[in-house]
Amino acid sequence: MQNVLITGGAGFIGSNFINYFLKAETRARVINLDALTYSGNLENLAHLSGRDDYIFIEGNICDFELVLSLFKRYDVDTVVHFAAETHVDRSIVDPRTFIDTNVMGTYSLLEAARSVWLKEMNKNEKYKRFHHISTDEVFGSLNPNDPPFTEKTPYRPNSPYAASKAASDHLVLAYSHTYGLPVTITNCSNNYGPYQYPEKLIPLMIINALNGKKLPIYGDGQNIRDWLYVEDHCEAICRVLENGKEGETYIVGGNTQPTNLEVVETICDLIDQHKPKSKFVPHQSLIEFVPDRPGHDFRYAMDISKITRELGWQPNHSFDLGLEKTVTWYLSNPEWINSIQKKKNFQDWIGVNYSTRGDTK
Ligand code: NAD
Ligand code: TYD
Repeated sequence: MQNVLITGGAGFIGSNFINYFLKAETRARVINLDALTYSGNLENLAHLSGRDDYIFIEGNICDFELVLSLFKRYDVDTVVHFAAETHVDRSIVDPRTFIDTNVMGTYSLLEAARSVWLKEMNKNEKYKRFHHISTDEVFGSLNPNDPPFTEKTPYRPNSPYAASKAASDHLVLAYSHTYGLPVTITNCSNNYGPYQYPEKLIPLMIINALNGKKLPIYGDGQNIRDWLYVEDHCEAICRVLENGKEGETYIVGGNTQPTNLEVVETICDLIDQHKPKSKFVPHQSLIEFVPDRPGHDFRYAMDISKITRELGWQPNHSFDLGLEKTVTWYLSNPEWINSIQKKKNFQDWIGVNYSTRGDTK
């Protein structure tokens, strides 16, 4: 039986991954270590309580003694490391927690893995893998005609978030190179889908549109992201865990690069179809342009040929299908949305991020 330590499993991608992994994998036990910061939500995993292949531990990845004790107590052989501070705008307002969690937290996990896997046991005794979840943002920003990011693209992170993730990637690869720790990394593009905390573009726009609030687009809305439906990301991670080569990085992306304005317009059209009697139809009339994000990366695009060629992975969802599923999920889960909207942290953040930009009420 595999003992898989998943960090940040109460967040957006982590909770989707745990659901996906436990459905597919019957011979694994998941230990979910999560500090339950503002974006961690145990409601995402409520249906798993009582299962004997799922254990939740509330704790901080920076707490080395705790992490070490979990490695030993549960005989951890696999780490899938999602835990991070993840929102670029928050990293601009307050970078400190990004350095703590993304850099020092990753260091703490790597040290625990090194100490238990490489020092205290025979490293060949059993399969081990430390998989680190990273982002395309470490590569910086592309101009309109630049080729997409590959595994060989030099790192040029621009935001404090991207810089902290770049630092963590470098640490992971250094532990592979220096100590022989069996690591893999995936650098993935923007995810969307169920359970995404509604401070990020797609869920924020869905929820604001449903409530008849303004849809705040930064700058002129021409910035481009590569969008991947979260379930496709989960499948890519499983492929890398199964057959990815130690010490290697894999680019993961959705082959879909609309402008932000196109994303928001498509969301509005979908909500018009689902709620034709809403007094806010056409929802596109709620769009407003607000002052840009400082240092806003213009474009991300991913070349997924390595993971397709070596591991046979490619996205299963077109953007239209993924967005339809996502809008339907948010329409079907008003309690989940309400419980977040009521929280002080969420309300405070909306005030901090948008009050100086424009009216989003
Ligand atoms: P999220 O913010 O929804 O979830 C992060 C989770 O980590 C939360 O459950 C939070 O409680 C937990 N956490 C934060 N600090 C912690 C700490 N110190 N100790 C323990 N737990 C802690 O983020 P997400 O969107 O699910 O992102 C997960 C990972 O995927 C991150 O590493 C992120 O960099 C990466 N990623 C995200 C995207 C995206 O579009 N969301 C794209 C590429 C890569
Ligand atoms: P976001 O979801 O924050 O992800 P990231 O910054 O990691 O790409 O933002 C996606 C894009 O949407 C990004 O170009 C910023 C833009 N954006 C807006 O235009 N308005 C908003 O209110 C938000 C949150 C983002």
